[in-house]
Amino acid sequence: MITLSYTNCLQSVLGKNGLPQKIIAQSAKRLAEANRALKKQSESGQLGFFDLPDQIQDAKKIQENANQWRGKFENFVVVGIGGSALGNIALQSALRHPNWNLLSKSQRKGYLRLFVIDNVDPTLIQGLLDTLDFKKTLFNVISKSGTTAECLANYFLIRKALEKKVGISQAKKHFVFTTDPQKGYLREVSGREGIPTYDIPPNVGGRFSVLSPVGLVSAAATGIDIRKILTGSRAMKIKCRTDRPINNPAFLFAWIHYLYYKKNRNIHVMMPYSNQLRDVSDWFRQLWAESLGKKRDRKGHAVYVGPTPVKALGVTDQHSQVQLYIEGPQDKLLTFLSVKAFDHDLTIPHYDRHYLSGQSLSKLFKSEEQATIAALAKEGRPSLTLTFPRIDPSNVGELIFMLEQAAAYAGELFNINAFDQPGVELGKLLTYALMGRTGYRNYLDDYKKWINP
Ligand code: PA5
Repeated sequence: MITLSYTNCLQSVLGKNGLPQKIIAQSAKRLAEANRALKKQSESGQLGFFDLPDQIQDAKKIQENANQWRGKFENFVVVGIGGSALGNIALQSALRHPNWNLLSKSQRKGYLRLFVIDNVDPTLIQGLLDTLDFKKTLFNVISKSGTTAECLANYFLIRKALEKKVGISQAKKHFVFTTDPQKGYLREVSGREGIPTYDIPPNVGGRFSVLSPVGLVSAAATGIDIRKILTGSRAMKIKCRTDRPINNPAFLFAWIHYLYYKKNRNIHVMMPYSNQLRDVSDWFRQLWAESLGKKRDRKGHAVYVGPTPVKALGVTDQHSQVQLYIEGPQDKLLTFLSVKAFDHDLTIPHYDRHYLSGQSLSKLFKSEEQATIAALAKEGRPSLTLTFPRIDPSNVGELIFMLEQAAAYAGELFNINAFDQPGVELGKLLTYALMGRTGYRNYLDDYKKWINP
């Protein structure tokens, strides 16, 4: 399993910037309280994400459907945004070939290429319209609410283009929806037109939904073993049931971030030394920011809490960000994602008796990782390391569940609701109002003076 090391957060390593070892054992009471609170919320049906690792049968069905798409389509396009896109991208880059879409059909074993449309920049959509053979494409429109403007605008554009290319009656055969079981525009269309539709459990929030059909359908379409993802996440769920902090990586992650936040380290950097895991940081950024960035605590008091999550990539950002991390303000806590064994390695060829000759690329990669971790520690800068024995569906599932559970624990520690997103919802309402949606005009009343004509 993946392991979490917090050695480089301890006083014994960092001196005054470190945490005393006893602070881990002392957190037992907080962990027991958090476990009790989360269990209660889970039992009352509020925390749907807790149940997702157990949905192996659903995953089996998703995988069977995906196998049928292999002969019919070549491309799979996800149309969604935020929690309805970031997890899809993270799974794809973690678990498929880095140039998956350039592989031949036989190299892909017939599985589909994947494209994710998660913006409404017209150039992005035009690019898709210009290049993709829509006749060979299946579009997965994903929206928890089924109403998000970005997602629907792109759906309408794509639908119209498809109707022109394949005819009105055939167009609907190129869609699969993933949405709320009852509510929203997508559900309405699905009922009217019989478009195959996966349910998003109503008690699973967008940023906690990657282990639901939201993330699993596109992963299965590209041939990822989604059952193994769930098996890994289940193993982590079981591991994190304990009330012993030392054995509970999700809690340790949340607790150490919380303690350092209280010490004004409010920038939380996730830095994988793995290109495959780069988009996991992007997914984590949403999870951490939307779950923990809150104006009010549970009693309604204004608290304005929230760490700022930052994504970085080793070694690339050693030549961009690391100078700041090592010498800049003491306001960061870093988490390294470290991989022990890579699926492939390369030997640097012999040239000019150069010191690099004959050494492996992975040794260079790992040496740079070690160098960054050591340089930070020497400057009294704390870091955590999450180590992967290797990258596979099971331990990616472990990581996802661990970070989701950590967000839930952090919500308990900060005493805020980690599962709502009033700021995001407000943005959606104002957008509806500005776009002239009936019944939303009055939302602009309080904002008029800040809106440029
Ligand atoms: O986490 C969240 O709830 C949000 O970021 C949503 O994922 C995002 O706004 C997209 O919403 P929806 O899936 O309803 O289209």
